[in-house]
Amino acid sequence: MDRDKPGVLDFFAGSGLVGLALAPYFNLLWANDVCPKKAWVYEANFGLEKFHLASVTSINGRDLPQAALSWASFPCQDLSLAGKTGGLEASRSGLVWQWLRVTDEMQSRPRLLAAENVTGLVSKNQGQWYRTLHKAIASRGYRLGAMLLDAAIFLPQSRPRIFVVAVRKTATIPSSVLDSGPNWLHSKAIVRAAQGLDDWLWFKAPKPGPRVLKLSDLVDFKAPCFEEDKNRKILSLISPQHRLRLQNSDLLVVPGYKRVRNGRQVLELRFDETAGCLRTPQGGSSRQFLLIRREFSWQARLLTAQETLRLMGAPESFRLPQNYNQGYKAMGDAVATPVCSFLAEHILQPLAAEAES
Ligand SMILES: C[S@@+](CC[C@H](N)C(=O)[O-])C[C@H]1O[C@@H](n2cnc3c(N)ncnc32)[C@H](O)[C@@H]1O
Repeated sequence: MDRDKPGVLDFFAGSGLVGLALAPYFNLLWANDVCPKKAWVYEANFGLEKFHLASVTSINGRDLPQAALSWASFPCQDLSLAGKTGGLEASRSGLVWQWLRVTDEMQSRPRLLAAENVTGLVSKNQGQWYRTLHKAIASRGYRLGAMLLDAAIFLPQSRPRIFVVAVRKTATIPSSVLDSGPNWLHSKAIVRAAQGLDDWLWFKAPKPGPRVLKLSDLVDFKAPCFEEDKNRKILSLISPQHRLRLQNSDLLVVPGYKRVRNGRQVLELRFDETAGCLRTPQGGSSRQFLLIRREFSWQARLLTAQETLRLMGAPESFRLPQNYNQGYKAMGDAVATPVCSFLAEHILQPLAAEAES
């Protein structure tokens, strides 16, 4: 632990990947999650010294250490395109208000706030959910902006996520992090949601070059595939168009999710050496399949737990539960580490390093 680094509080810490990714830039002081299964993963990898297993609703800000940054990867179910969309008033995504309530109770509010969630936060409900959150944070004395970063910039997983960064109005903002208008970090939905908002910041960061890592670089080609019957059943779900593309492709591995299209279950494939977004497995359809090329055929299987780790940028030595669904969930819920490190290196750390008036 480097006490010279600015401190960070990690709310909704889950498996702890945010703390891991921020570690070169920030000193983790405190982390919290309500889920005992996530606590198991957290303990297995980081110990429980900083971790508090409790609902955010029971946290009192006066009990927390002072920190430069408070991070919240708050639950996404009510903002998610795949889920029911009750928004920020619903019970799970609405926990973001508890995070802000805790912030209000602290002796002094952190200089920086960061919140992470799915793209629905800015794109759904005509951007009103973001606008409501923006105004609530600005009214607490912050300037802020949202950015879209996709894990696919760094890793072979499509995982677009919104990152909201807020900085106290009294803090100096270095010119290296501030733009005069939208740039590659800002989707159309963000630009629309930002319209007319006070205290909005257009953050900037250098655009990374093309990704080198491909899905086939992360896949364990020796992992067992399904038995013949199950394999046939899975392959039969591929649509004629995708079957043709598969026949003509020279890829070694093709990922896919089961989806219902026109009332029929199909296995929808991707042909871009990139896995679809890892999700939490709530049923068969939310687990990702891989088709592995054999000499004269394709063989199907689920992603292995180790592959989910790699797709999130977690280290090979990261410990996951033996239970497949629990391991998958621990990664499906998490924040991809290179995205978090990128944000820390180019925006959060420079903001934390500036003096405050
Ligand atoms: C999107 S995940 C965050 C994952 C985490 N940042 C990571 O990298 O693994 C949301 C987390 O919120 C937790 N959560 C849900 N309700 C909560 C509550 N009332 N108090 C604290 N944590 C809660 C869930 O258990 C889940 O781990």
